[in-house]
Amino acid sequence: MYSEKVMDHFQNPRNVGEIENASGTGTVGNAKCGDIMRIYLDIDENQVIRDVKFKTFGCGAAVATSSMATEMVKGKTVREAMEVTNKAVMEALDGLPPVKVHCSLLAEEAIHAALWDYAQKNGIEIEGLVKPKSDIGEEEIEEEY
Ligand code: FES
Repeated sequence: MYSEKVMDHFQNPRNVGEIENASGTGTVGNAKCGDIMRIYLDIDENQVIRDVKFKTFGCGAAVATSSMATEMVKGKTVREAMEVTNKAVMEALDGLPPVKVHCSLLAEEAIHAALWDYAQKNGIEIEGLVKPKSDIGEEEIEEEY
């Protein structure tokens, strides 16, 4: 039921980990399943995403979509990263089963939350970026897990 690309990114996820002193971090929870995703962005002075890492308590589809999404935003400017939607990520993975589409939202939302954090810290605006609804703090995660 999963494409070869999904299986590859699930079994060999790219960009798993953390970035110390990240330019922006975003943590979001999935309203449907309660799974959690955190994204770290390292952004240079030209607003180019130099590095990106993720950690998740999500399912295999969440791992695969985050792996692909992080590969897709790496090396892009923060504006270009806004074009990496969950739809674009799913297409790059050759699709996901319909029941797993909500999992792919985690990566997009966490990237947006991390971009928002970066924009706030640097006093800039990124076109099309709105305040994340579901950004949650460290404390809340520790309480839950
Ligand atoms: Fe929760 Fe997939 S079931 S992220």
